[in-house]
Amino acid sequence: MSAPWSPESWRKKPVQQMPHYPDAAALQDVERQIAAMPPLVFAGEARNLQKSLAKATKGEAFLLQGGDCAESFAEFSANHIRDTFRVLLQMAVVMTYGGGLPVIKVGRMAGQFAKPRSSDTETQDGVTLPSYRGDSINRFEFTEEARIPDPQRMLQSYHQATATLNLLRAFAKGGYADLNRVHGWNLDFVSDSPLKERYEDLAGRIDDALRFMAACGVTSETVPEIRQTDFYTSHEALHLNYEQAMTREDSLTGEYYDTSAHLLWIGARTHQEDHAQIEFIRGIKNPLGLKCSPAISPDELLRLIDVVNPDNIPGRMTLITRMGHEQVREKLSPLVRAVKKEGRAVVWSCDPMHGNTYKSSSGYKTRRFEHILAEVQGFFAVHKEEDTHPGGVHFEMTGKNVTECVGGAQAIGDEDLSSRYHTACDPRLNAYQALELAFLIADELKDIRKTDKIKTAPAAAAE
Ligand code: PEP
Ligand code: CO
Repeated sequence: MSAPWSPESWRKKPVQQMPHYPDAAALQDVERQIAAMPPLVFAGEARNLQKSLAKATKGEAFLLQGGDCAESFAEFSANHIRDTFRVLLQMAVVMTYGGGLPVIKVGRMAGQFAKPRSSDTETQDGVTLPSYRGDSINRFEFTEEARIPDPQRMLQSYHQATATLNLLRAFAKGGYADLNRVHGWNLDFVSDSPLKERYEDLAGRIDDALRFMAACGVTSETVPEIRQTDFYTSHEALHLNYEQAMTREDSLTGEYYDTSAHLLWIGARTHQEDHAQIEFIRGIKNPLGLKCSPAISPDELLRLIDVVNPDNIPGRMTLITRMGHEQVREKLSPLVRAVKKEGRAVVWSCDPMHGNTYKSSSGYKTRRFEHILAEVQGFFAVHKEEDTHPGGVHFEMTGKNVTECVGGAQAIGDEDLSSRYHTACDPRLNAYQALELAFLIADELKDIRKTDKIKTAPAAAAE
């Protein structure tokens, strides 16, 4: 029997990576205000996402999760949201077409404001200040005043998340995501590239398929799935004052849901079994993610799965592995084997970003496209060897043409990083690099489809 849970039971546990607010009364006042605000997402939507993720545990769907490392108040604009949404749609269409299976679209958007840091403090020119912890907590600027946690920033995060989600819902349901517009999503894209040709070729084939279906009476008027899509939101469940304040009891089931996003994940630094973040998420019914770094052992992982998903509900747990390209085979295989042996239903998702960060010679924190790709390929190879399902991918990316990760077909070099390095946190793939990766993942998915056909062929013939 597990100990009783309540939305505030995390407060009795050891906690890491959380801000220390100097004014407790001001914090409580904001928590009360947020607790009285409308929910951002509905429990029913979170349940639908969980149903889709259950399919990904069996290889019948594929998860695409992506967005900024940290959303920021300064970068907030309709164009920024549209550009990220558009690249995610483009990637999804490429992967759906290649893999021949539904792609579940989840943004690191509309709430990804709080960041774990490797150190509590930052030192510049001999001055040491508390670290920047994300826009919902303090300010990036390197001054003493800016780094003091300010609870009012939680309110601003809530309002920005609300406006972001409102626009995402309009894009997803209001016509922008119509499959008849696949060409249109490419309009502002890097124009003179081989990637553009490859995308246009695929868009042309989708057009042909849509024309054929229309001739058979299947159009966006008759089948809503053609003109609209499901788009979900997610962020790291780190800042528990905010997450608790957004947690509501679902009137239909009496269960608790964190209504700040559809999916919440626990970061690689805060998944200690007896700590606050794990305590909080074990009681909410949203689908959950768990980041797995090379430090996690198979036993520890199995114990954590038991704590957060004791009933082994398919779709509840997504394991987001971030091993680094050099270690992915060696570190991922034992985890996959142990989880398979114990019969745990999980979505295996690959985050090829967080194990591949390094400081460039020009001083920028960056990631190499080729390393990112190598980790994705290692991830697929492990699942092939273990006969398990690669269930998804998790990227830090943006729809803008930034220069934060080096390499890729655009051949961004160290010397280019300073040109458009805009992230306040980790380096993101730009739109071009993200789409390039989507094509490479589509090839991997296509291979699986072919192998599965070969595997199922004798049975099918015997029917
Ligand atoms: C992140 O996803 O931004 C992050 C901090 O990842 P991790 O917890 O895996 O280091
Ligand atoms: Co990050």
